[in-house]
Amino acid sequence: MADVRVIGVVGLGAMGAGIAQLGIEAGYEVVGREVSDELGTRAAGRIGHFLGRKVDKGQLDADARDAALARLRTTTSLDDLAGCDLVIEAIVEELGPKQELLRRLETVCRPNAVLATNTSALSVTEIASAIRTPERVVGMHFFNPAPLMPLVEIVRAELSDETAVETAATVGERLGKRPVRCHDTPGFVVNRVLIPLLNDCVRVLDEARVSPQDLDLAMHSGAGWPMGPCTLLDLVGIDVHVHASDALYEKVREPRMAPPPRLVAMRNAGLLGRKSGRGFYTYDE
Ligand code: 3HC
Repeated sequence: MADVRVIGVVGLGAMGAGIAQLGIEAGYEVVGREVSDELGTRAAGRIGHFLGRKVDKGQLDADARDAALARLRTTTSLDDLAGCDLVIEAIVEELGPKQELLRRLETVCRPNAVLATNTSALSVTEIASAIRTPERVVGMHFFNPAPLMPLVEIVRAELSDETAVETAATVGERLGKRPVRCHDTPGFVVNRVLIPLLNDCVRVLDEARVSPQDLDLAMHSGAGWPMGPCTLLDLVGIDVHVHASDALYEKVREPRMAPPPRLVAMRNAGLLGRKSGRGFYTYDE
């Protein structure tokens, strides 16, 4: 197993920033890469905000917060990832850009650095096929919101070697997660079940003619879900869900995997959930 001290995170959107936050809280040095200084600064601000809330609530000392934030460095240059022992990418969910990124990382990073993808919908094996050293590529699939959800799926691609898989699992544990190792199949474990289930929930909205509020209340109060399906879809992002749903349907061809037209229309209208201020619900922030 590779010894990991420095973690690179590429893409500091909601997932990447959450992963970077976990890294600095766990004592790793983290180099976060964004495409512009503005996006890097915004992500660092978001991380500072959430760590500040922990201080306010007495869950973290102010000194520990400051020390954690000092372990975070943001950059726009991939070359700054040269010293990383593990790089986790959380960029746009498209095969081409992810493969291109891995090609760059393969030239920048040390030969024994592990390269992990946080993809939720693409094949890790296919992403890894772009480089000459696919054995060091694994999936580390975190759940939204990454700092709060205890699971990380450790995805073994066809050519992943044991060192890469076990390094990712060990880091996942040190990040405070419960790693579940699985093979690289469409949707891995959770999304294979959750995506069609959420699609069913949206179809029920129309079939049973209930409001999003009542469907959420029903699943929260009748099935013990921590948040109702409409709230969850707004959190995940309607665009992210539709994209993942399309990808799963393309591979598995079960009708339940296909995104319901209502969600596709919401995506097309820009009703993306929390991030756009409006989805099933309206948000002020
Ligand atoms: N990042 C960092 N910290 C965050 C955060 C975030 N995104 N969101 C909230 N927090 C912090 C905040 O500081 C907050 O405290 P504050 O409100 O006092 O500031 C603190 O966490 C606690 O937040 P909540 O009070 O909202 O926590 P809850 O106890 O209500 O739990 C939850 C929230 C864990 C999200 C819970 O509602 C839950 O488990 N929901 C289900 C989520 C789920 O199913 N996610 C999986 C989605 S599928 C997926 O990700 C797969 C992908 O491939 C699409």
